[in-house]
Amino acid sequence: PISAMIGPSILNSDLSDLAGSSQKLLDQGADYLHLDVMDGHFVPNLTFGHPVVQCLRQKIPRAFFDMHMMVAEPEKWVGDMKKAGADQYTFHIEATQAPLELCRQIKESGMRVGIGIKPGTSVHTVDDLIEEADMVLIMTVEPGFGGQSFMAEMMEKVSYLRTNHPGLDIEVDGGVGPKTIDQCAQAGANMIVSGTAVVKAENPQEVMNSLRKTVHQ
Ligand code: DX5
Ligand code: ZN
Repeated sequence: PISAMIGPSILNSDLSDLAGSSQKLLDQGADYLHLDVMDGHFVPNLTFGHPVVQCLRQKIPRAFFDMHMMVAEPEKWVGDMKKAGADQYTFHIEATQAPLELCRQIKESGMRVGIGIKPGTSVHTVDDLIEEADMVLIMTVEPGFGGQSFMAEMMEKVSYLRTNHPGLDIEVDGGVGPKTIDQCAQAGANMIVSGTAVVKAENPQEVMNSLRKTVHQ
């Protein structure tokens, strides 16, 4: 049986009203919020950092904040993000020389540990780190921008991880919507990010319902 959680990405929503956009998504049935942090170095785009997350936390006291840290030097922001109210901290394996130490730093801070993998990076780069991780994020687009096309080839990575690590949380992110969510869930992803497909839809509630119906028991 398939059962997964839906975490909308607010990247392509109205960022001048982040709290309003987030609350709307939660009211529509989001299980958690996927928050995309970009620093203009690790990816060629900029979004927001821990000061904004801290303000968002004031207005959204209970939702699970899943931080997708598309930043160089991810070790720099662990303490600040924890203080800001983050629940999970996903760094990119490509962004650090010392992933094991970083996993431990995140765990000690009290957040869940996520490790992200870009499309061109082998899934085997995290083989020795799974013990330290709560979640692995398989990118299904090149990180940096919302609204790109889903890369179905990445499902091989998801299946490999699911087969070898039945208890691991596996997240997919990029180009996921009603047409692509089923293959993600079938491959074994249980945390599903969807941005543009939801927030740019004519009827976001309808899209959220359809996503939820595909993966909820
Ligand atoms: C891409 C981000 C994703 C993305 C999701 O760099 O990490 O979270 O914005 O949005 P869609 O679903 O539009 O690809
Ligand atoms: Zn993301």
